[in-house]
Amino acid sequence: MTLRATLLLLALGLSALCTGANEQSQPDCLACHTATADVAVHAVFHTVHGALDGGGAAACSACHGASEAHARRPTDAAPQVSFGPRWQAEAEARDGACLGCHAGGSALHWAGSEHQQEGLDCASCHRSHRQQDPALNESESQAVCVSCHSRVRAELLLPSRHPIAEGKTACGDCHNPHGALTGASLREPSLNEQCFTCHQDKRGPFLWEHPPAAEDCGLCHRPHGAVHDRLLTVRGPALCQQCHAAAFHPSLPYGSEGLAGGGANRNLLGKNCLNCHSRIHGSNHPSGARLAR
Ligand code: HEC
Ligand code: HEC
Ligand code: HEC
Ligand code: HEC
Ligand code: HEC
Ligand code: HEC
Ligand code: HEC
Ligand code: HEC
Ligand code: HEC
Ligand code: HEC
Repeated sequence: MTLRATLLLLALGLSALCTGANEQSQPDCLACHTATADVAVHAVFHTVHGALDGGGAAACSACHGASEAHARRPTDAAPQVSFGPRWQAEAEARDGACLGCHAGGSALHWAGSEHQQEGLDCASCHRSHRQQDPALNESESQAVCVSCHSRVRAELLLPSRHPIAEGKTACGDCHNPHGALTGASLREPSLNEQCFTCHQDKRGPFLWEHPPAAEDCGLCHRPHGAVHDRLLTVRGPALCQQCHAAAFHPSLPYGSEGLAGGGANRNLLGKNCLNCHSRIHGSNHPSGARLAR
């Protein structure tokens, strides 16, 4: 026999084996997981995933794997990929079940993301057996996030806040829950770029820039909520005096340095810096060098 014939025969044999395996490899999951016994499970047929691999039991295996052993001995053997409640496959296998089809797109940076490293899997947020996946539902997805992020939940109730709880902005407007290359998984390449997607007027370019605003909005603002007005990290003159020496023209006469020469600076006593330097994010006025107009 020639080498070629041997290879052909071998290939034929292999393909016969494979078809055989395929026929056996699709146990009838629905024989046990019936529509009446497993109402919730069958909700998958009201989602896009119900039609995977032609639908029916084949759809089950698209995510849970062939699971032949389980179909033969359902109470002893785990399905190939289970997300629980009784058996739970390794995180890698659980993620793999979804990433086989969803590796690109918005989940491109899942591997290495904070959520992945913290042991979350796709099913931590997505519910494959619900007609309406809560992660994709605007009114429910925030609850999914704050069920773990209790500190953020608390921030949303502070006196000054982004209108997230009010539904005008969503966690997903700023964050990619699947991870991104920026810190805190922001959708845009930098924090400022993220802010500019909604606050275009702060982008500039300005004739007179205020360097911290061009550099990092987070130097003065909290992202979710703050005790101080306008999401500020620190209140009033103290905010400015973190960088600008109180001795220059302090707004409060508490220290002796505030009363250089014995007299109060006429510009400043008791006044907020913003009363005069109102163009705090930058100015386009020809004489706006001091950010005052
Ligand atoms: C012979 C009946 C039978 C067949 C066939 C069957 N299952 Fe099951 N399955 C069960 C039973 C019973 C349980 C509950 C096991 C337990 O919790 O002790 C179960 C549980 C499960 C679970 C939950 C596992 C967990 O960790 O709690 C999944 C997922 C599952 N089956 C998927 C499948 C898939 C996919 C198929 C088809 C490939 C399938 N089953 C075929 C009877 C069956
Ligand atoms: C898109 C992927 C996907 C498909 C398709 C799918 N499942 Fe699931 N299944 C999951 C995930 C993820 C979970 C974990 C719970 C959840 O997310 O709802 C799960 C959970 C389960 C459970 C455990 C439910 C519980 O909480 O007790 C059973 C049983 C189950 N699936 C059976 C099936 C059967 C039977 C089919 C086919 C009719 C099927 N699954 C199709 C992804 C899938
Ligand atoms: C065999 C391929 C396949 C597998 C496995 C798979 N999906 Fe999908 N999924 C699709 C297709 C096809 C669509 C519809 C087209 C699209 O939105 O990309 C889809 C859509 C989705 C959507 C958007 C649904 C919508 O209504 O817009 C989500 C969310 C999703 N899948 C999550 C998951 C999760 C989580 C898993 C694992 C538990 C999973 N998928 C496993 C193929 C798959
Ligand atoms: C921390 C929660 C969370 C986790 C974990 C998560 N997702 Fe999502 N996913 C979401 C939210 C929220 C959306 C809604 C759209 C958005 O904000 O990007 C979404 C949207 C999707 C979509 C549809 C739209 C799109 O952006 O492509 C797919 C597909 C998807 N996720 C797949 C996955 C897969 C696969 C995994 C696991 C590797 C996963 N998700 C893990 C929260 C999550
Ligand atoms: C199952 C729990 C859980 C859910 C649900 C969850 N997270 Fe997380 N998330 C974590 C953990 C744990 C960390 C890492 C520790 C930390 O920063 O709190 C984290 C970190 C983060 C971070 C910071 C680190 C980074 O680079 O991503 C952001 C942003 C984030 N989550 C956003 C979200 C959003 C948005 C949602 C909803 C779509 C969400 N999370 C849902 C558990 C969760
Ligand atoms: C307006 C944009 C925006 C929205 C909306 C938003 N975030 Fe953030 N978030 C940020 C920014 C910016 C940071 C980074 C702060 C830093 O690096 O100092 C951040 C940081 C985080 C962090 C990590 C650091 C921390 O504060 O714990 C988590 C977790 C987080 N956000 C979760 C959420 C959740 C959950 C929601 C929805 C309830 C949400 N975010 C809504 C902009 C936003
Ligand atoms: C998805 C859109 C969106 C993004 C992105 C966004 N914001 Fe906002 N921001 C809003 C909305 C909406 C309001 C409320 C405006 C109103 O009430 O008139 C707001 C209000 C504010 C306020 C005023 C709050 C108050 O108490 O009046 C500040 C300060 C602010 N944002 C800063 C930021 C910073 C800093 C960033 C970047 C980390 C950012 N925003 C990103 C939508 C956004
Ligand atoms: C040097 C501190 C500082 C930096 C940096 C800064 N801000 Fe502000 N921001 C303020 C102060 C102070 C106010 C309050 C102004 C007032 O009450 O008149 C404010 C108010 C706001 C407001 C609400 C009022 C308005 O003018 O619309 C928004 C929105 C805002 N800032 C966005 C941003 C964005 C976006 C960035 C980054 C590009 C940024 N801020 C950087 C100090 C700062
Ligand atoms: C994170 C540090 C930082 C904070 C906070 C800060 N600034 Fe500035 N500010 C700077 C820097 C840096 C310059 C540029 C100084 C230079 O060019 O010599 C500047 C410049 C200025 C100028 C123009 C000065 C000139 O020489 O033309 C004014 C006015 C000003 N800041 C006011 C304020 C006010 C008011 C606040 C509070 C709302 C504030 N700054 C908060 C860092 C800061
Ligand atoms: C009553 C109005 C007024 C108030 C309030 C005020 N400033 Fe000024 N500031 C001015 C004027 C006017 C100038 C320009 C003075 C000059 O050119 O000689 C100036 C100049 C500055 C400069 C530029 C200094 C330089 O080197 O040329 C900085 C920085 C500054 N102010 C910061 C602040 C800070 C921080 C506060 C709050 C603690 C504040 N100002 C409060 C009116 C004010």
